[in-house]
Amino acid sequence: MNAAVRAVVRSSISYGLEVIGIHRGFLGLLEGQYSRLNLRSVSGIINRGGTMLKTGRCPGMKTPAGLNRALGALQKLKIEGLVVIGGDGSLAAGNVLSKRGIPTICVPATIDNDIYGTDETIGFDTAMNTAVEAIDKIRDTASSHERIFIVEVMGREHGFLALSVGLAAGSEFILIPEVKFSVGKLCAELKQEHRRGKTSVIVVFAEGSGNSYELADKLTRCSSLEVRVSSLGYIQRGGTPTARSRILASQFGAHAVRLLREGKKNRLVVLSRGRIADIPVALAARNEKPIDLNTYKLARRLAI
Ligand code: F6P
Repeated sequence: MNAAVRAVVRSSISYGLEVIGIHRGFLGLLEGQYSRLNLRSVSGIINRGGTMLKTGRCPGMKTPAGLNRALGALQKLKIEGLVVIGGDGSLAAGNVLSKRGIPTICVPATIDNDIYGTDETIGFDTAMNTAVEAIDKIRDTASSHERIFIVEVMGREHGFLALSVGLAAGSEFILIPEVKFSVGKLCAELKQEHRRGKTSVIVVFAEGSGNSYELADKLTRCSSLEVRVSSLGYIQRGGTPTARSRILASQFGAHAVRLLREGKKNRLVVLSRGRIADIPVALAARNEKPIDLNTYKLARRLAI
C-alpha cells in the first residue's frame, strides 16, 4: 500500500496537483485527520509493509449518516479527486462517494485477491510468498515427524490466496470455500496417499472453509498420522513487500492519478491479462470474482 501512496503522491505532484493524505482510512476522514503530502512525505516507504497513512475498518461508512459526513468533509476540503486504496469495503464506499459527486478512482489492495475484474490486488503476492515460505518451514516438521499439518491461510470467505499458496507450496490438499469437500472423502484420500508412500501431508485450509481445529479432530479419528493445526494469521498481512507487489502498486497508483487528470471518475484500476486497465467500480461492486477451477484441478493433479 505504501508503494501505491508514494505513486499517487509523486504522480500528482509531477502534474502540479496538491495532495492531501487522509489518515486512518475513512475513519480519519470522518474525524478530520489528514495532512498535506509532499515529495518527501513518501520518501523511504516503498520497502515498508502496511501503510504510512494508517488504516482501519470503518463500519460508519456503511450508514447513510456516515456517508453524508464523509461527503461533507471532502467538500469542505475542496477535494477535486479521490483515490481510495483498499478492499471490497473501501470500493463500496468509493462507489457511493463517486455517485454523490466526488470523482473517485479505486485501487484494489487486499491480500485476499478477491476483487472482481482484476487478476491481482496489491499485497497478494507478498502474502502469498510469506505463506509459502512458512509452509516450506512447516513441512520440515511434517516430514520428519510424519504428521498431517492443516495450515490455515487468510482470505476471508474466498480461497484465492489459499489456492495459489497451496499450488506453490506443493500441498497435498487445498480446502477452499468455493469447492465443497467431505471429511469422509478426505479420509479416504489420505489413506490412499499413505498407500502411495506419503508419510506426511500438508492441507492448505482457507479460513473461510470452516473450523480447522474441528477438521483436525475428525482427521485424527480416521488417520494413523498425528494431526496438527498451524494458523498463519497476521504474518500474512505484513513484512517487506515483494518486488512484484511494489511494481503493481506503483503502476496502479500512477494510473489512478492519470484517470483523474483525464476527468474520469468511478473507475477501478485493474490488472487484466498483464496490462494495467480500468473498469467501472460499480461492475466490481456487484460481481463476485470467480475462482480458477483449472488451477484447483492442476494442484490436485500434481499432488499425487
Ligand atoms: O481482508 C483482508 C483480511 O486480511 C482477511 O484475509 C482476514 O480475514 C481479515 O482481513 C482480518 O481482518 P481483521 O484485521 O479485521 O481481523
